[in-house]
Amino acid sequence: MSRRILITSALPYVSGAKHLGNLVGSLLPADVHARFHRQIGSEVLFVCATDEHGTPTELAAARAGLDPRHFCDVEHARQAETFRRFGLSFDHFGRSSAPSNHALTHHFYRRLDAAGLIAERPVPQLWSPVDRRYLPDRYVLGTCPHCGGPDARGDQCDACGALLDGVDLIAPRSALSGDTRLEVRESRHLFLRQSALVEQLAAWVDTRHGWPAFVTSLARSWLTADLKDRCITRDLAWGVPVPRPGFEGKVFYVWFDAPIAYIAATQDWAAEQGGDWRAWWWGEAARQSTYVQFLGKDNVPFHAVSFPGTLLGSGEPWRTVDVIKGFHWLTWEGGKFSTSQGRGLSCEAALAEHPADLWRWWLIANAPESADTDFRPARFATEVTKDLADVFGNLVQRVTRFAHAAFDGRVPDGGEPAEAERALVADVAARVRSIHDRHRAREFRQAAAETRALWSAANAYVQAAAPWAALRGDRARAAAVTRTALELVAVCAAVAWSIVPTLADAAIRSVGGSAGRTPPWPVDIADRLLGSRHAGATLGEPFEPVKKLEPIAVAAGS
Ligand code: MF3
Ligand code: ZN
Repeated sequence: MSRRILITSALPYVSGAKHLGNLVGSLLPADVHARFHRQIGSEVLFVCATDEHGTPTELAAARAGLDPRHFCDVEHARQAETFRRFGLSFDHFGRSSAPSNHALTHHFYRRLDAAGLIAERPVPQLWSPVDRRYLPDRYVLGTCPHCGGPDARGDQCDACGALLDGVDLIAPRSALSGDTRLEVRESRHLFLRQSALVEQLAAWVDTRHGWPAFVTSLARSWLTADLKDRCITRDLAWGVPVPRPGFEGKVFYVWFDAPIAYIAATQDWAAEQGGDWRAWWWGEAARQSTYVQFLGKDNVPFHAVSFPGTLLGSGEPWRTVDVIKGFHWLTWEGGKFSTSQGRGLSCEAALAEHPADLWRWWLIANAPESADTDFRPARFATEVTKDLADVFGNLVQRVTRFAHAAFDGRVPDGGEPAEAERALVADVAARVRSIHDRHRAREFRQAAAETRALWSAANAYVQAAAPWAALRGDRARAAAVTRTALELVAVCAAVAWSIVPTLADAAIRSVGGSAGRTPPWPVDIADRLLGSRHAGATLGEPFEPVKKLEPIAVAAGS
C-alpha cells in the first residue's frame, strides 16, 4: 500500500451545534487515522471544511439576524475552535463558500455541460405570494405524504426519513411567513444526468476494495435501482451562482458544490502552506496515493454515486476515492441525537463536562462501525473510568511514582533483563503489531480493544515483577524491572496517542520522553524494553491522575 494518504471527513454543516454523533461518524475516526498514519511515517493530508450553502444556512442566518456570509464567518470560527479543542488535527479546515470552491464548481459544471451530462428542465416549485419567492427544500413545511407526520420539510421528513419534494407535502406552509396560500409555479432547473453514468459508476464501485460491507451494498442499491437524474440547482440567493443565461438568481444545490470543496480546501491548503494540490487530486501523481473518506451512512449516496459522477463525468483525470469508511449512528439513550430538540450532547457541552480524551476514547472504543451504538451517560462514565483511570492511568502512575521514590526520579541503570522481560517482549511486540494492523485496516473498535488489552498486560507484568518487593533484597533486579516498565509505559502511550493524544503526551512526558510532537510508532520493542538507552535520564513531571467519573456525571440534553 502507498505511503501517501489523503483523508477527508464529511464536511459538517456550518449551522447548528455539532454533537457527539457528528464527531464519531466522521471527524474523529478521520483524525485518529490521520494521526496513526503520521506515526507510521506516511505522508498525510487531512482536509475538512464547513459546508456552508443551502437552505439550512440561509434560514439559520435569518433567525440570527445576520446575512449568510457574516453568519458563516462566525459559525466557521466557532466550529474550528471546538474541533481544535477536541484535538482534530486537520492540515486544513476550509470553507465550501471559499472563492476556490466557487471556481471549481463552475469548472465542473462547464465540463459536465460540455460532455452532454447536464439537462435543463422545467420543475414545478412552490411559490409564496407573501414572501414573494420560491420555497425550496426547508423553506416549506407540511404534512408528510408518507407517514402523516405534521412537520415534514420540503426536502425530508425527519419522522420517517423519507426524501421529499416540496410540492408533495400536504397542507404546505412557508417556513418564513407561515403563508399557506402557496402557488405552484414552474421554474427551470439543471439536472445532472446520472442515468447516463450509471454503468460507469457501477463498474467503478466494482474496482474499489476495503469498504465496509454495508457501504458497498448501499452504493450498489443506488446503482441498480433506476438511478434518477439529480436536480443540481435551486431558487436561492446564497450559494454558488449558476453561470448560465436564464439562471440569474439561482445557485447550485448544496450537495453539488459541497464535495467539490474537498478539492477546493486542498487548493487553499496548498496556497497557504506551499503544497502541491495536484499531487493529491490530479493525474498519475494522485493515483500513487490512497484516498479514504470518513462519513455517516446518510452520506453514502453522495460520495459513492453523485460526487464520483461529477468527477468521472468531467472526463478529466481527477482521482476518485479508494475507500469509503462509512459509519452507522450514535444514538442517545435509545433515540436519535437531535440538537434542535435538545436530545444528545453538543461537542461544546461535552468539552465543558470532561476533557476531550475521555470522549475520544469512548467514542472510538464504541464506534458505530457495523451497527448503531447507544450512548448512555452511566455506561460512558463506568467504561471511561475503568479503561483510562483504573487501567492506563494506574499503570502510568504506579510505575512513575515508584521510579521517583526508589530511583530518585531517574531511569535506573544496572541489572539485566530476565526471562520475564523476554516473555514480555514477545507478547508486547505481537500486540503492538496487531494494533498497527487494526488501525491500518480502519477497525477502530478493535484497535481500541487491543490497546486496552495491551495496557492490562503491562499492568500484569508490573504486578508480577513487583519491583517494590525486589528493591529490598535485589536492587539490580528492581532497577531492570523499573527500566523496562518505564519503557513499557512509553510504548503503551505511543500506540494510544492517535486516540488519546493529550493523555498519551502526558504519559510520555512523565517517563522523560519529549512530548508535543508525533510519537513514532514503536517497532523496536525488544530494543526498547530490554535495552538501557535511557538509563540515567531524568523523569518528567508527574502524570496527573485521570478523573474517576460518577456513573451519573454527564448531564443529558445540553
Ligand atoms: N454537510 C453534510 C452532512 O453533514 C456532509 C457533506 S459532505 C460533502 O451530512 F462531501 F458533501 F461535503
Ligand atoms: Zn414522514
